[in-house]
Parts: sequence; C-alpha cells; structure tokens
Amino acid sequence: MNGNSTAQHPAVHYYDGDYPSPDSSVFPENFDEITAYQGLAHDITRYKEIAAETGGPVLELCCGTGRVAIPLAKAGFDVTAVDISEGLISQFRKKLSLESESVQRKTKIIRQDITQLSLERKDFKTALVAFNSLLCIPEFADQCAALEAIARHLSPEGRLVLDIVNPLVLKFDADTFPKAFFTRKNPHTGNIYTRMSMVGAFDANHRQRLHGWYDEVAPDGTVKRQHYSLWWRPIFRFEIELMLKQAGLRIETLEGGHQKEPYTARSPHMFIQAVKI
Ligand SMILES: C[S@@+](CC[C@H](N)C(=O)[O-])C[C@H]1O[C@@H](n2cnc3c(N)ncnc32)[C@H](O)[C@@H]1O
Repeated sequence: MNGNSTAQHPAVHYYDGDYPSPDSSVFPENFDEITAYQGLAHDITRYKEIAAETGGPVLELCCGTGRVAIPLAKAGFDVTAVDISEGLISQFRKKLSLESESVQRKTKIIRQDITQLSLERKDFKTALVAFNSLLCIPEFADQCAALEAIARHLSPEGRLVLDIVNPLVLKFDADTFPKAFFTRKNPHTGNIYTRMSMVGAFDANHRQRLHGWYDEVAPDGTVKRQHYSLWWRPIFRFEIELMLKQAGLRIETLEGGHQKEPYTARSPHMFIQAVKI
C-alpha cells in the first residue's frame, strides 16, 4: 500500500482480507494456505520473540491495520504504531476498540509520514518495518530518509527489524495475463471476493507496478469489480546494507525467512536485524 492511497482505494478496503492475521476472529478461514506464500504465517511469532530478547518499547513503522502491533500489545509490549494512511488507521482503531483496556493502553497510534518521522520518544529498543512496508515507499531517496529517521528514534542499544522481499526471486518483466491470487471473504461485508493480480516490468528506478482487480460477489449474484494499482521498489542485498550504513546502522543478522532460515539466493525474504554503528 502506497502512502498516497486514499481511504476509498480498494486495497485499503480489502486490506484485512488480503493480509489476514492468524489471530483474526472475523473470518479465520481467510488465513488460508496462501498466507504462507504471502509471508504472513510466521512473522508475528518472530517479532514477539525478537521483542522479548531486545525489549520494549516497540516502534512499528507502517503499521497498517495493526496486524503486527495488536498481537505485540497483547503479548505485553508498549507499542507505538505509525502509518500515513487515514483509511488503514481508522480500521486499526476500530479493531483496537474491541481489545481489552490494557491492550488499548499499551497501543499508541500515530499518523505520520515515516520519511519525516518525528516522535517525542527517541528511546525505542525495537523498531519493526514488517511485510515489505519499506518497499511501499517507492522512491530511493524516501526509503533512505525513512531509515535515517527510524535510526534517530532508536535507543543506543536499539534494534531495527526489517522484512523485505528478496529481489532475486522476483520476475523482472511484465506479466502478460492476470492470475487469480486468492478467493477470500471481504472482512467488512462477508461476501466472497477474488483478487486478480499482475506485475509490471521493473522501471529504471527499480520500481514495479502491482496491479489487477477485485471481483466481489453480492448475495444476489451481481459482481462488483474494482481495479487497483500500487507501486513498490524492491531493494537488493548490498544496496540495503549501504542504505542502513548511511542511516548509522549495521546488519547484525540476515535470515531468509521468519523461522531463522539461512539466507540464500532463493530465499523469499531478507529478514534483517540491524543495530546502531
Ligand atoms: C504492505 S502494508 C504493511 C502493513 C503492516 N506493516 C502489515 O504488516 O500488515 C504497507 C504500509 O505502509 C504504509 N505506508 C506507506 N508509505 C508510508 C509512509 N511514507 N509513511 C508511513 N506509512 C506508510 C501504508 O499505509 C501501509 O499501511
């Protein structure tokens, strides 16, 4: 999801169906076999483990609807969750209002552009940028600005955890036909919807367009189609190392997934933990 996506953008509306949480009680069947391919099956468990080792307070950047932040608060951490999207934040607030008072007290939601992050607190022990969120800032200079701003909010012994796709496993040319990615239930209406997806070719700035449409079937059988278009900017292994270095951070561990898999050229993820230089 890009920072300029409005609340009416279909990817905002379908967000919790597209990226379900194992914790979700609304339509648990949305957490299907494709969630592992999406990289959603084990990441929250790993964030809880790392936060337990490194400690709180936890800062989650690009928090979306609270998929990661709410389970961390439920696990007892004080979480400050930042996102730019009013539409996603309002879904997050609604979900948070259903949680216990203590979880609500532990979760602070702030609307900000993380490329200009400026929070009162600058002593976060753990900062997380989950699920390719850094790549949803599709300009190189803005990605660098975000990393620098995050580093300024970490305590001296703080740790940044960054989950980004391994670009070596991506397709660099454009799809010629769309694929049905998955069929799930719209978390707001309960209707079945199918997300059709395609990728564009990488451009000269290493951005790629992710586009397609959502088909939702109403109870009377009518189909509502809504198109979406998003951009991401994948980052290569040694590029992120230099970007982090420029931000005053060094990579301590690089894993290939959320279960401590060693990183290889075929790994789906680059799961990075970085500390201050
Ligand atoms: C792929 S979603 C991930 C959401 C969440 N981290 C998760 O794991 O479910 C990317 C998020 O980045 C947010 N985002 C994009 N650009 C941003 C920016 N400049 N500042 C803050 N948030 C931003 C979007 O609004 C969206 O919530």
